[in-house]
Amino acid sequence: MTANLGSGLTDAEGGPVRHIPVLLPEVLAALAAQPGKVILDGTFGAGGYTSAILATGADVVALDRDPNAIAAGQALVASSGGHLTLHKSQFSSLDAYAPAGGLDGIVLDIGVSSMQIDEAERGFSFQRNGPLDMRMSSSGVSAADVVNRCKVGDLIRIFGFLGEEKQSGRIARAIEKRRVDNPFVTTRDLAGMIEIVAPRKAKDKIHPATRVFQALRIFVNDELGELAQALFSAERALKPGGRLVIVSFHSLEDRIVKKFLSDRSGKASGSRFLPMAHERAATFDAVGKQAVAATEEEAEANPRARSAKLRAAQRTAAPAEKPDFSIFDLPDLASLDRIGG
Ligand SMILES: C[S@@+](CC[C@H](N)C(=O)[O-])C[C@H]1O[C@@H](n2cnc3c(N)ncnc32)[C@H](O)[C@@H]1O
Repeated sequence: MTANLGSGLTDAEGGPVRHIPVLLPEVLAALAAQPGKVILDGTFGAGGYTSAILATGADVVALDRDPNAIAAGQALVASSGGHLTLHKSQFSSLDAYAPAGGLDGIVLDIGVSSMQIDEAERGFSFQRNGPLDMRMSSSGVSAADVVNRCKVGDLIRIFGFLGEEKQSGRIARAIEKRRVDNPFVTTRDLAGMIEIVAPRKAKDKIHPATRVFQALRIFVNDELGELAQALFSAERALKPGGRLVIVSFHSLEDRIVKKFLSDRSGKASGSRFLPMAHERAATFDAVGKQAVAATEEEAEANPRARSAKLRAAQRTAAPAEKPDFSIFDLPDLASLDRIGG
C-alpha cells in the first residue's frame, strides 16, 4: 500500500496527496505490527506508514509537528473506527503519548514530506519561489531570521556542519554583506545569490544552494536535537519486546541513531581501561545486523529512497537510562541565543 493509493488524504486543492512512503515493507516487518499492538508513528506526514500499520490490525497513535499534516489526516482518523489518534506534537516528547503499559512499536521517518517541499509558501524549496520560512511547525524562528540575523561565524558552522558545504565561509560572508541593506526574503533570492558566489562546477550534480538549504532546514527545525531526544523518549516509552524503527536520510541522523543503539546495546567500545563501561544492562538489542537500504527498484522508482537507511532494535526489560547527549558527540547548534548577537 502506498500513501497516494491507500491513505485517502487530499492536498490543499483537494487532489490526492503524493508522498510515496520509503522502505514500507521493511518498516512493517521490523515493527512486527499485528492486531492488539499499539504502534506510535512519530512522523505521520501523508499517513503512508500509519495506513499500512492500521491495515495489519494494530492501533496507531500518530504525531506530526506540522499543522497541515494534522488537518489533512482527519479523514483517516474518522475512517479508522477509533484505531487511530492523531496529535500535533514534536516527536521528542513521544513518551507523553504512550499507554500505561508502554508501546509495542515506534516508527520515525525523519525529514520533510513531499507535501511540505511542494508547497512553495512553506519555503523549503528553491525550485519554487516562496518565503524563506522552512518551519515544519509554522512557528518559531524562520530560515529568514537565521540568514538575516545570525552571526557570520554561526552561519559558517551551520552551513559547514549541517550542510557539509565546503564553501560555507564564502557564502556566509556574502550573506553578511548583502543583508545589511537588503535582507533576504525569498527562497529564490537566497539561492540566486549562492549561485553567484559559489557557482556550480561541471562535475557538480546538485544545485549550489542545495547544501545551504538543507543546513537551514535542519537548523530551523532542530532536527538533530529532536532525533536525539526522541531516542531517549523511545527508551522510556517502549515496553519490553517493543520495536524501535528509524528511517533516516542524512548521514548525521544515521550517525545519531547508530551511536545511540550501539551505546544502548552494549556495543559501544568505551575504553578498555574502563571495564565498568561494559557492565551496564543493554536497553536495546539490534534487529538485523546493519542498516537496511532501499532496493535498486525502489530507489529507481522513488528518488527520495536513495539515501534512506533503516535501523531497528528491540527494547529489553532493563530500565531506561538517564539521557546523556554527550554520546552523540554533536556540536551545540541548537541554541538560538546567537541570533541578533
Ligand atoms: C518524511 S515525512 C513522513 C511521511 C510518512 N511516513 C508517510 O508515509 O506519509 C516526515 C513528517 O515528519 C514530520 N516531522 C519532522 N520532524 C518532526 C518532529 N520533530 N516531530 C514531529 N513531526 C515531525 C514532518 O512534519 C513530516 O510531516
